[in-house]
Amino acid sequence: MSGPDAGTRTANPLTLTDYATLARTGMSSAVWDFLEGGAGQERTLADNLRAFDRVRLNPRVLTGAGRPDTGITLLGRRWAAPIAVAPVAYHTLAHPAGEVATARAAGQAGVPLVVSTFAGRTFEDIAAAAAPLWLQVYCFRDRDATRQLVERAERAGFEALVLTADAPHLGRRPRDLRNDFTLPAGIEPANLTTDGFAAPAAHALAQFDPSLDWSVVEWLRSISSLPVLVKGILTAADAIRAIEAGAHGIVVSNHGGRQLDGAPATLDVLPEIAAAVAGACPVLLDGGVRRGADVLAALALGADAVLLGRPVLHGLAVAEQEGVRHVLSIVTDELREAMTLTGIRTVADAGPELVRAPNSAP
Ligand code: FNR
Repeated sequence: MSGPDAGTRTANPLTLTDYATLARTGMSSAVWDFLEGGAGQERTLADNLRAFDRVRLNPRVLTGAGRPDTGITLLGRRWAAPIAVAPVAYHTLAHPAGEVATARAAGQAGVPLVVSTFAGRTFEDIAAAAAPLWLQVYCFRDRDATRQLVERAERAGFEALVLTADAPHLGRRPRDLRNDFTLPAGIEPANLTTDGFAAPAAHALAQFDPSLDWSVVEWLRSISSLPVLVKGILTAADAIRAIEAGAHGIVVSNHGGRQLDGAPATLDVLPEIAAAVAGACPVLLDGGVRRGADVLAALALGADAVLLGRPVLHGLAVAEQEGVRHVLSIVTDELREAMTLTGIRTVADAGPELVRAPNSAP
């Protein structure tokens, strides 16, 4: 292979694509399919990436900006970069150290980790790793079990809740259906007492509450003192509804293309959502962020920060904590370079004028 991702051949990963290629070689094809796959024909999964591929940034010269500062302050916390680790179930699929290694790496990078309800390591073990932690919440039919999960995370020092709103049940994922995918032995949800988790889709069907409505935001606020963000917003109307329901932030997300196939790419809907929110709360985005320039494009089009999903698991699979640290540092370094070459000094300086024709075909 030649070109920017040639490092793959020499096992010297320089880009997130290199990490994906290396991670694949060490995994069973069924686990790889579970991590990488999406719902239906994977149109939304592919579109997340294509939306970023279509973006072109306007370089600005001689701005006198100097060395950029990638830091932000969000929900009262300083982040070294506008990047967080998205909630992904079972980091233990990528490496037995799982979320503990990821948290250590996030701590080194100075960015938060959103821990999945289906984390493979206990909240207490993850919290000992000293990164800022948020809890991703799947609201179960059993509200008491959900309440216990939230209380346990709050006791362990977690700083925010992220309610996943786009999964009344799990999207239909043909790769997993074809593989008849079940979790390998030893992979378990470390913070839940539940049966049948080895078959994720069937488990979700049995346990997830399919009749949730916006009152769940108020309920979460009533059982916890932590800020609540709603993840899975793809329309301006739902963004406004989330704020009215009491959310402290939203995550523009299509679950990495794993839920409604045919849902739009997150970057494509970001501008209308950011315009509707108009600064009333932080707007985060995930889905298809693979380069620092992608982060800058999302910031320019209205995001306050982005989350990285699959690439973090790739780093973890390739080189445990060091792999995750490297993945996060690659994206941060690329972001800093993109900021330098577009002539901006702070994240707040990233506006729509940086982006040229985001929605036009290549
Ligand atoms: C996820 N995602 C997810 N989201 C969530 O709210 N709770 C979860 O437990 C999981 N689990 C999960 C497992 C796997 C294997 C993947 C790939 C994704 C979705 C995740 O938070 C995020 O929305 C996407 O992964 C972002 O897209 P990229 O960065 O993977 O393209």
